[in-house]
Amino acid sequence: MKKIHLIVGARPNFMKMAPLYKEFKKFSNEFEVKLIHTGQHYDERMSKFFFEDLQLPIPDEYLEVGSGTHGVQTAKIIERYEKILFTDKPDLVIVAGDVNSTVACAIDAVKLHIPVAHLEAGLRSFDRRMPEEINRLLTDSISDYLLTPSIDGNEHLLQEGIDQKKIKFVGNIMIDSLVEYKDKAEKSTILEENNLSKNEYCLITLHRPSNVDNKEGLTIILNAFEKISEQIKLVFPIHPRARKQIQAFGLQEKVEKMENLILMPPVGYYDFMKLQMNARFILTDSGGIQEESTFFGIPCLTLRENTERPITITIGTNQLIKLETKEIINASQKIILGKGKEGKIPPLWDGKTAERIVDIFRKEGIISL
Ligand code: UD1
Ligand code: UDP
Repeated sequence: MKKIHLIVGARPNFMKMAPLYKEFKKFSNEFEVKLIHTGQHYDERMSKFFFEDLQLPIPDEYLEVGSGTHGVQTAKIIERYEKILFTDKPDLVIVAGDVNSTVACAIDAVKLHIPVAHLEAGLRSFDRRMPEEINRLLTDSISDYLLTPSIDGNEHLLQEGIDQKKIKFVGNIMIDSLVEYKDKAEKSTILEENNLSKNEYCLITLHRPSNVDNKEGLTIILNAFEKISEQIKLVFPIHPRARKQIQAFGLQEKVEKMENLILMPPVGYYDFMKLQMNARFILTDSGGIQEESTFFGIPCLTLRENTERPITITIGTNQLIKLETKEIINASQKIILGKGKEGKIPPLWDGKTAERIVDIFRKEGIISL
């Protein structure tokens, strides 16, 4: 029996680990799986809601690290997870994505000679000012299994000199959850509750420090919202970081004045999926939402200078927008006038990624370091 730890910590981890957890559970005579939650995200709406919607059990371990600077948060995770590894000694640790919990737990495991698998490996924005890019580079460089969502991931890893044998193109695990829960999401009543109709609103999410951590950037964005909301409703489930910063910069009144802006706390997985599927377009700086909108075929404007997910642009419905009021307004108007970008679904974004991953470990076993 092989013991496996699945690490979750922040909102985008839950929908990536849920399919894998369930797939491993199908082979409970071969694998013992434990869910470890670092507590990087802890608000009900950033964590507990996802355990409910994604039908995940209470985590086996909860590290309660909470918020903090990068140094503090990462160090707390490293300190607390190491203690668990000392006593529990898994055969494999699986981390996902690019958040602080990802790199911290990978460092712990690899130093104790426990193999690490990185889910969503090889993505690169080539922008080292983003904390996530540092987390990706570090995690990939110490992981033993690099499970890539798209073929550009393989190319980046090979260019960085990583042994080809470690790299496995398995597809996009986020899509597994979309496929699995699409029917449940259809039943969400979030549109009726907010008096919304299909194609008649733009869905917004924002949380990147480059957009929300300075007053100038936030003002540029809110000025664009004022104009766009004259033409279409804006639905904005607000991330706690953005909420805090809007208050800190005294921009609350500007936000509340917009009649056509529907502000709401972060919503659960089914509700958000329903909001995505029915939106005219999406305006975001999220990593995962660039991919989900491509899967749903909904035009997506990404408020960033670069993306680690270029396949959503080359194949999908995504497009990058500069942080300039005029740019945001022009791109939005184009879509409102019916000229939204169309796209296709990239290879292996098919809902079967968890199956492919578990198959690898069943057939090839798990290496020992
Ligand atoms: C983190 C990830 C980011 C990911 C995002 C997904 C890192 C470096 N950043 O960013 O890559 O895209 O999650 O949502 O790992 N807060 C709450 N309640 C919570 C969590 C956070 O109020 O449950 C507030 C706190 O004030 C905190 C701030 O949000 O200081 C930022 O949280 P943090 O986890 O540091 O970064 P995110 O911006 O959430
Ligand atoms: N999401 C959600 N409710 C929200 C906002 C986002 O369920 O109010 C989901 C979204 O569908 C996607 C994931 O959260 O599956 C993306 O997480 P986030 O944008 O926080 O992180 P990123 O992908 O940028 O790291």
